[in-house]
Amino acid sequence: MTEQSRTTGRTVRSGFRRTLVIGMAGALASAGLVALTGGSAHAAGSTLGAAAAAKGKYFGTALSNGHLGEAQYAQTADREFNMATPENEMKWDATEPNRGQFTYGGGDAILNHAQSHGMRTRGHTLVWHSQLPGWVNNIGTGSELTQVMDNHIRNLMTHYKGKIYAWDVVNEAFQDGSSGARRSSPFQNKIGNSFIEHAFQTARSADPAAKLCYNDYNIDGVNAKSNAVYNMVKDFKSRNIPIDCVGFQGHFNSQSPVPSDFQQNLQRFVDLGVSVQITELDIAGSGQAQADNYTKVTRACLAISRCDGITVWGVTDKYSWRSGDTPLLFDGNYQKKQAYNSVLAALQ
Ligand code: G3I
Repeated sequence: MTEQSRTTGRTVRSGFRRTLVIGMAGALASAGLVALTGGSAHAAGSTLGAAAAAKGKYFGTALSNGHLGEAQYAQTADREFNMATPENEMKWDATEPNRGQFTYGGGDAILNHAQSHGMRTRGHTLVWHSQLPGWVNNIGTGSELTQVMDNHIRNLMTHYKGKIYAWDVVNEAFQDGSSGARRSSPFQNKIGNSFIEHAFQTARSADPAAKLCYNDYNIDGVNAKSNAVYNMVKDFKSRNIPIDCVGFQGHFNSQSPVPSDFQQNLQRFVDLGVSVQITELDIAGSGQAQADNYTKVTRACLAISRCDGITVWGVTDKYSWRSGDTPLLFDGNYQKKQAYNSVLAALQ
């Protein structure tokens, strides 16, 4: 329970009459609003996407092609969200499993579904050490790998040109812990530090309309890893390397809780001249504690004008990559959880 709600709890009796009056006034005002808006509950923001849109933001979800055929999955996603991220379908192993052979079936299916249900799409992800086919690991030299990386970025961004709101151009390039160093990866080891800026430059020329994001986890508070990403963004800005946004994945659990300086950390990135996005939010837990953490994240994004929006990493707990943590807003039966109600209330 938050400090604020504890205080409210203590004053609830003396405030009852005032609450009743405010409640009645609110009901009358809502009735008027419904009349004015032609009775559309959607217009008043009764879903995550509509409520976020009313605040100039989006509320998205990761989608998996394999589940779109399940009626409740698709209905829940289509009703609640206005941004989609393919959970796996645009990754390197899915799109270029063999060198020069591009396969877009899964990504296209998600994009088409999103477009036909009023959702924009985030592209995820162009350059990442994980879900990377073996042949990329086996490229011998930095110059050849640079060509391979450029070719991959150009192919994907040309195929989806004009249809992707933002791309996670480079994903998870920094190490955890106190070093602030780059993570070991084929790109880092063979091309060196310049692979990130090179990827962003190639991406900008391939689709100038897409926002270009750097995306990572464990950078939600001020720490050695987020400092390293901050310094990279600052350096890029000073040298006119194109970068538009930083994605904060937001995978939280009891070992890695929502940090108290979350909003302050987002703000310092915004102050560098990029926007921020919560890109893969999921929070282990249940009940009030989970709901409070979701509220914290939602309020932080709402408080920052250049926080573009929030994406949760899946529709239902049962298909989460860590379903045992029940980290999402809908349970396995697509029922709204307490966390859902808290997020919606915060957005409204
Ligand atoms: O595609 C194969 C399928 O052919 C096979 O039958 C099946 C058997 O297990 O595996 C399928 O691949 C799985 C893939 O998801 C698609 O379902 C992989 O084993 C599995 O490892 C993979 O997990 C994904 C994970 O990234 C891989 O690193 C999760 O779904 C996805 O939620 C997760 O997402 C990442 C973000 O992209 C980046 N940030 C962290 C986040 C969580 O790990």
